[in-house]
Amino acid sequence: MSQRTFSIIKPDAVGKGHTAAILADIAAAGFKIVAIKRISISKAQAEGFYAVHAARPFFAGLTEFMSSGPIFPMVLEKENAIADLRKLMGATDPAKAEAGTIRKKYAESIGENAIHGSDAEDTAAFEIGYFFAGIELK
Ligand code: CMP
Repeated sequence: MSQRTFSIIKPDAVGKGHTAAILADIAAAGFKIVAIKRISISKAQAEGFYAVHAARPFFAGLTEFMSSGPIFPMVLEKENAIADLRKLMGATDPAKAEAGTIRKKYAESIGENAIHGSDAEDTAAFEIGYFFAGIELK
């Protein structure tokens, strides 16, 4: 059954000009792009998105980074989308990511790791609703 997940091309990858290459990798892996936009978010908006990590030592740096430049939030759809996107992204730490994954190819550090992908159905639903209105998701 078809499933939706949420992803963000992060400020490091956008700033280095990797957006089109990452979208090509996503399309080649069989994902349909249901919604996408280019926006810049405030630190407070990043804090709301990453609220689940509020107690982590990297929270301040993470939210500073995510509000440092334009990002491309998007909703992606395919069978097994959540797990398949995480496989395509590679490990959180690019140094540990497998060859051919987006983080291996385009990311430099665990903090600035090119792409985000939802880790479960409930977080995907929250994250999609954080960035997109229902009318954008037909
Ligand atoms: P993401 O999938 O967007 O979800 C949480 C983010 O926190 C993660 O990607 C990383 O970019 C970031 N993160 C996770 N662990 C660390 C860490 N140890 N140091 C800095 N950032 C981290």
